[in-house]
Amino acid sequence: MTSFGFGRELVDHAEGAIIHTRDGRQILDFTGGVGVLNHGHNHPRILAARQRFQERRRMEVHKTYFSPYLAALSHNLAAVLPGDLNMSFLPNSGAEAVEGAVKLAYKYHGGRRNTIMHADISFHGKLLGSGSLTGGAQNHFKFPGISGTVAYPYGDLDALRAQVAAARDDRGGCDVYAILVEPFSASTMRHCDEEFLRGLRELCTAEDIVLIFDEIYTGWGKTGTLFYFMRYPGLLPDVVTTSKSFGGGKSSISAYVAREPVFRKAYDSLNDALLQSTSTTYYGFGEETATAIEAINIAVDEDFPARALQIERVLAPGLDRLAKEH
Ligand SMILES: Cc1ncc(COP(=O)(O)O)c(C=O)c1O
Repeated sequence: MTSFGFGRELVDHAEGAIIHTRDGRQILDFTGGVGVLNHGHNHPRILAARQRFQERRRMEVHKTYFSPYLAALSHNLAAVLPGDLNMSFLPNSGAEAVEGAVKLAYKYHGGRRNTIMHADISFHGKLLGSGSLTGGAQNHFKFPGISGTVAYPYGDLDALRAQVAAARDDRGGCDVYAILVEPFSASTMRHCDEEFLRGLRELCTAEDIVLIFDEIYTGWGKTGTLFYFMRYPGLLPDVVTTSKSFGGGKSSISAYVAREPVFRKAYDSLNDALLQSTSTTYYGFGEETATAIEAINIAVDEDFPARALQIERVLAPGLDRLAKEH
């Protein structure tokens, strides 16, 4: 922090896009809180939802009782996402959502396939599993990770097709259980074009590979559609991950949402239900989920995608000029 002079300002409070420092200055916060602050700091409806939850003494821990908040949030996610993306799991961090999605894909194939592909420039988190799926540029020290990872060049469909064709099991069948991609890569500001994404979908369908879109950073309107992939009608991943602004700037919550047949094939039996994903103590806690419900309501009511396009029209020319100049 000190090398760049950050961390010297002491913040008193923050509202909307403004940070108020203790020495009375106001700072226009362009950071977006690393993707967490689509709603701005302390959105009044988010604060009110949390206060309501507390005042009514709602139940936080739901392990032995049905949680209406968890159910409502899952229902609402299914309502705003296209197709049969209907089954949600709600842990606390993006990395856990990614790892949950990867476990789902592995289990979907009954442990018979052993290769998982991720982009060379990817960022999927920093736990041991998600870290091993994060591209080399972000990862200059090798920690142990999951096995069978293969990096493909981001956006290069021909290369990816060749790598999938080369990944065969002993009997010549496809060995790839999942392909991960950030349709828009926030850490590099690159994106996949429509031809790549549709071709990838076709390839995954043909080879029965679970296609995972990581939209942890890009969700909830940032790119002009609710999720980046939704700009292309009919394009559907098997699993999508989200976090960051999903919690309305207040709650540490993430999700993976899976297509129902994929989820059911993996976990829908008494024997397998508890293998489910990254189930941790705090997943789907009450106030976290109630906050996320309101965060989605606001993103829809205030039409965040349209607002992002509006802001783009204002800022893009100046940002492009800055990028060229520097
Ligand atoms: C695309 C993407 N995936 C995964 C993650 C990991 O999320 P978390 O930091 O909550 O573990 C991030 C975090 O920046 C991200 O941008």
